[in-house]
Amino acid sequence: MISQTLQEAREYEAAAERNILEDERPSFHLSPRTGWMNDPNGFCLYKGRYHLFYQYYPYAAKWGSMHWGHAVSNDLLHWEYLPAALAPDMEYDQDGCFSGNALELPDGRMMLVYTGVRKEYSEDDLEDKVGKEVQTQCLAVGDGIDFEKSSLNPVLDEKDIPAGCSRNDFRDPKPWRCEDGSYRCVVGNRDADGSGQILLYKSDDAWHWHLQKILAQNHDRFGKMWECPDFFPLDGKQVLLTSPQDMLPKGFEYHNGNGTLCLIGSFDPVTEEFREESDQAIDYGIDFYAPQTILMPDGRRVMIGWMQNWDTCVLGARRKWQGQMSVPRELSIKNGRLYQAPLRELSAFRANKTEYRDVLLEGEKDLPDINGRVLDMEIVIRPEDPDTLYQKFSVHFAKNDQYHTTISYRPQENVLKIDRKFSGSRRAFIHQRRSKVPAGPGGVLKLRLILDRYSVEVFVNDGEQVMTAIFYTPLEAKDITFAAAGRLFMDVVKYDLIL
Ligand code: FRU
Repeated sequence: MISQTLQEAREYEAAAERNILEDERPSFHLSPRTGWMNDPNGFCLYKGRYHLFYQYYPYAAKWGSMHWGHAVSNDLLHWEYLPAALAPDMEYDQDGCFSGNALELPDGRMMLVYTGVRKEYSEDDLEDKVGKEVQTQCLAVGDGIDFEKSSLNPVLDEKDIPAGCSRNDFRDPKPWRCEDGSYRCVVGNRDADGSGQILLYKSDDAWHWHLQKILAQNHDRFGKMWECPDFFPLDGKQVLLTSPQDMLPKGFEYHNGNGTLCLIGSFDPVTEEFREESDQAIDYGIDFYAPQTILMPDGRRVMIGWMQNWDTCVLGARRKWQGQMSVPRELSIKNGRLYQAPLRELSAFRANKTEYRDVLLEGEKDLPDINGRVLDMEIVIRPEDPDTLYQKFSVHFAKNDQYHTTISYRPQENVLKIDRKFSGSRRAFIHQRRSKVPAGPGGVLKLRLILDRYSVEVFVNDGEQVMTAIFYTPLEAKDITFAAAGRLFMDVVKYDLIL
């Protein structure tokens, strides 16, 4: 039975999407059918198709009472919208169906595991109606289009969290099926001191869950609350991804506000103990948060994140839609670090190759046929003379007389910077971010830029780091120019992406 709240959302989105022209959206990055999108949810492969749900408020391009939007794809690059999957229509989720994930049950049905939010009002806040969110974990089961919320809901609530821990910050379940047929689920939570932690739950049937242990604890090292955990083996290691709130900066590794964190370590399947070995940011740009991963049939681990950040949502506030997903990224671990590469199938949509080798760059230059807003461009730079380093390299894109966005590199400081302050934004918030990027042997720096109308994802040195940023620069701004202070050699290979 579809509730009236969900039915209304479905009717609304089907009508409202007609107001958004194809060109007003990214070409192959998923955007909301209408209104607002944040985190990816329920990312899974189900009966031969990839499903991606998302945090969704259809009625305005701003965060509101959370629904789950829904899209499907055969290749993770071409998406088709399906009707909204969940609406806040039960007492336990009346203030929002927050982030979660999906499982395929042994009987072939799809199970959504999500956070139900209900606000509680104390005497004090009855007047201003602020309230406190009570967060619980809930189930909905269906055929991949329509879902019925379980009568067991909520299946995890305050009884299932360690003593003294927060019932207000208890969210974003990520369940998976183990080889022996039992299930595990990680959920973000706060301990009694307010610092983030990841709880591990177990179930034998996916319906009845109990606390297994505290899997990881923040101890105030990386922000406060840890949101949207994901936990999986990769290249002989175990990876915990999470998105911390309230970060403090640490060198160029972490920045203030909402950030992303990758903990790499080992996992003992008997004691279910996770031992951390190293930490790093997942993305070093401005707009990336709350990623989810899937395991592809061929063994690749692929991640999609929300290509925005809570601290920068003011950008795009006046659009018909707001929020985009990142390009699907293949993950691997090399030399103890998380590497990312755009889904390799994207290369099949490369067209109109334009290539320049050994261009001597000094001052500013444009190169014939290097322009566009939906493209894949590889740039390799090296000093003309490794003993006399150049001072700075820049590439400007989404550019015309009025606008541009820039990636620049200062080899003497090993700093790569993204700067979108000339992208048309009229608000004073974060427009730049820097990352420490040592050049490779011979001073070589490799950049691969994926542009899709309103975003850039820069894969640095074969994916050792990624910097992501969105910009809503008018589409007429599509020039690309290169500049050097000092002298360097540059190779450029550019393809249009036609999907
Ligand atoms: C992360 C997050 C989640 C929550 C959702 C609400 O971006 O804050 O923790 O489930 O967004 O929309």
